[in-house]
Amino acid sequence: MYATLITILALIAVACGHGGHVKTGLDVLIEHDYTQLAGKKVIVLTNPTGITPQMDLGIDVMHQSGKVNLVGVMGPEHGFRGTAQAGGSEGTFVDEKTGLTVYNAYLANTTTLMGFIQASGADTVLFDIQDVGSRFYTYIWAMYDTMVAAAKTNVTFMVIDRPNPITGLDAFGPVLNESFVNTYVGRRAIAQSHGMTVGELAHMFVGEGWIKEASGGRSLSLEVIKMKHWKRRMTFEDTGLPWAMPSPNMPTLTTAMIYPGTCMFEGVSVSEGRGTTRPFELLGAPWINESWVSAMRDLKIPNTEYRFQCFTPVADDFKGNVSCGLQTYITAKTTEQLRTFDAPYVGTALLYTARKLFTVGNTTSDGATTGAFHWLLNKADKSKYDVDVLVGSPLIREGIEKGLRPEQIRDAWLPGLQAFREKRKKYLLY
Ligand SMILES: *[C@@H]1O[C@H](CO)[C@@H](O)[C@H](O)[C@H]1NC(C)=O
Ligand SMILES: *[C@@H]1O[C@H](CO)[C@@H](O)[C@H](O)[C@H]1NC(C)=O
Ligand SMILES: *[C@@H]1O[C@H](CO)[C@@H](O)[C@H](O)[C@H]1NC(C)=O
Ligand SMILES: *[C@@H]1O[C@H](CO)[C@@H](O)[C@H](O)[C@H]1NC(C)=O
Ligand SMILES: *[C@@H]1O[C@H](CO)[C@@H](O)[C@H](O)[C@H]1NC(C)=O
Ligand SMILES: *[C@@H]1O[C@H](CO)[C@@H](O)[C@H](O)[C@H]1NC(C)=O
Repeated sequence: MYATLITILALIAVACGHGGHVKTGLDVLIEHDYTQLAGKKVIVLTNPTGITPQMDLGIDVMHQSGKVNLVGVMGPEHGFRGTAQAGGSEGTFVDEKTGLTVYNAYLANTTTLMGFIQASGADTVLFDIQDVGSRFYTYIWAMYDTMVAAAKTNVTFMVIDRPNPITGLDAFGPVLNESFVNTYVGRRAIAQSHGMTVGELAHMFVGEGWIKEASGGRSLSLEVIKMKHWKRRMTFEDTGLPWAMPSPNMPTLTTAMIYPGTCMFEGVSVSEGRGTTRPFELLGAPWINESWVSAMRDLKIPNTEYRFQCFTPVADDFKGNVSCGLQTYITAKTTEQLRTFDAPYVGTALLYTARKLFTVGNTTSDGATTGAFHWLLNKADKSKYDVDVLVGSPLIREGIEKGLRPEQIRDAWLPGLQAFREKRKKYLLY
């Protein structure tokens, strides 16, 4: 009896112990004394999230160890050391700390990326960036483009895996239509909230034949350095790992949780909270009032709550103008609640209610500051709406314009999502 009890307690202790001690791919690499990189000439695509549990930057640690032949660095959006704002980069320069040349990979095309790999003399590209689980977050497309360049230059691509901070439980939201858009916020047919790690996504990019197709038939040698002890049900908090802001407007785990939904507000005339300390949680405009909160509460969406809030953005949309709207709270805590928390659906409901309450006349705007709810036309391609470029299809905007309710719009994306969920299964590493 006692023996059984002790065994059970020991098992619980082991399970709990593992819960708090996730090892990222970087920790595993260091633990193995970099043997995976022995004899390789390595260029690293990384940013300030590529850290050890001691919060040191991986590239600095590798450099100091003297055990890795580093030949260059590539920086994504916001830069390698993270000094640039949204849509910015640090340019190409020599890093003072390591003496390595840092190439600007943000929005770089395949030819440019191939040039970086060749100029550095690398035979291996190492990717180490913390993703946040949303299709429109650009780091995964920097990875994709660099994988294509690696295939074309015949170098190995190695991914240091890290957690999906919003859990790896499931995928949610519309799947991108590749013949409708192919941009830096979405190149391939994945769900808006993909529920995968970067290592798993890299396997999907190769396994679906996407890299081969984009590189003119070349095959890519891909290696993923897996994490240890990560469980799909874990939010980033559960991993025990230190959080480093993945980008200036992604300050917390809560931001990452809501982002697959509220990022769609970049495509309408409502502030998505940029220029406040709670981007993507706060949404508002000078002409919005408390009726928005009531409308959202009436929808009774599980795992969410809404609070009226006015704010004055210090940058971006409505800079210096008092804007009112709401803050979205996510109350999902248990694994079952997290398994069903659907941020793209919440974002769709927020668009639906804002469109319904705050429309005056024409709902399309070419971007001029507006006094009501508008879908903004894309500046680079006036034939498309910004929100459609983010969603990867016109499905949500057209559904709302047709008068469909949020749940009917979700029904419309479900067949595509179900097909993605099936496809995704064969690439899951954990
Ligand atoms: C790639 O980008 C470079 C630098 O911006 C440009 O000069 C070149 O024409 C581009 N190549 C292609 C194929 O678009
Ligand atoms: C690619 O590299 C591998 C190993 O470095 C080599 O064996 C192979 O011949 C190369 N392939 C091409 C097409 O250059
Ligand atoms: C994808 O987009 C293309 C081009 O806009 C369109 O012709 C096609 O019907 C779309 N496919 C689906 C499944 O919606
Ligand atoms: C909120 O704003 C809408 C649209 O301007 C308006 O019709 C409505 O009367 C306002 N509601 C309140 C409670 O002020
Ligand atoms: C925003 O503020 C500017 C001055 O800072 C003012 O000119 C403008 O009318 C305001 N816009 C709105 C929509 O309140
Ligand atoms: C609505 O506004 C857009 C952009 O300003 C314009 O292209 C379009 O023709 C307008 N539609 C109507 C019905 O006025």
